[in-house]
Amino acid sequence: MEIGMSVGITGAVGIAAGAWLRQRHRWNRDRHYERLASHEAETVLKFPVALSATVAEPSTLAATFDRERVIRTTPFLAPDCLEALRTEALATRSEMEPSFIPLHKQGHTLSYEKVIRLAPRSWSFFRSPQVVEWLQGVTGVPMLPTPIQDQSTLSLLCYQNEGDHIQWHYDHNFYRGRHFTVLLALVNRGDSNGLSRSVFQRQLPDGGIEEFETAENSLVVFEGGKVRHRATPAAAGDLRVVLSMTYCADPRISWVKEAARRFKDTAFYGLRALWD
Ligand SMILES: [Fe+2]
Repeated sequence: MEIGMSVGITGAVGIAAGAWLRQRHRWNRDRHYERLASHEAETVLKFPVALSATVAEPSTLAATFDRERVIRTTPFLAPDCLEALRTEALATRSEMEPSFIPLHKQGHTLSYEKVIRLAPRSWSFFRSPQVVEWLQGVTGVPMLPTPIQDQSTLSLLCYQNEGDHIQWHYDHNFYRGRHFTVLLALVNRGDSNGLSRSVFQRQLPDGGIEEFETAENSLVVFEGGKVRHRATPAAAGDLRVVLSMTYCADPRISWVKEAARRFKDTAFYGLRALWD
């Protein structure tokens, strides 16, 4: 009887201690994210974005986006602005994390948190009022950032080794509002007419495949939950670096979907995605 009571008390203390540690970690992470976010406004001011003098008027792309849920345009940025973003992104390559899921994906990623620390120009681009206004002109809905603890909200993707790719998939929407993915090509070099063999493609409703030429300075906007897409494998010597951003018309999320989102992100950032 006494042994049973002792085991019970020990178990209860262990559960309480575990809950306290989880709560403390959550509190620390939330404070950490608040500190990071507090630098956003000054970063956007410090690294202003300059759109290309010949950037497309968003209204000219809105009808296509409404029909196809995907558009591609180029050039998007002024040359100096693109060069600054590219130089910054290339300097982060050693900090990128490898991701590998057999038969599904292979590549390197710089997470949101590291982008904020190491690639402030990319952060500024993501939150630039000019860019957001342009995107809203295409989609016709508010383009709010998905939450800072969602490591996929803003990331740099790098396809640098032979076979780097991601297979057909949808970008699952865990949020209440429509969810959009925006890809800015910063680097795209290789032996395929000067471009990487890693090509962005979408599957058409009839099963066909549409290919999007994503040379440097091209921008692709798509509704990833509706558009099945992939990046084909890179060849040896290729280099493709993409700034990947997600926006949402309403970024509220239920705790069930938040748990599912974190589980999905373990594929990119390991087990820490479950509790960070
Ligand atoms: Fe995707």
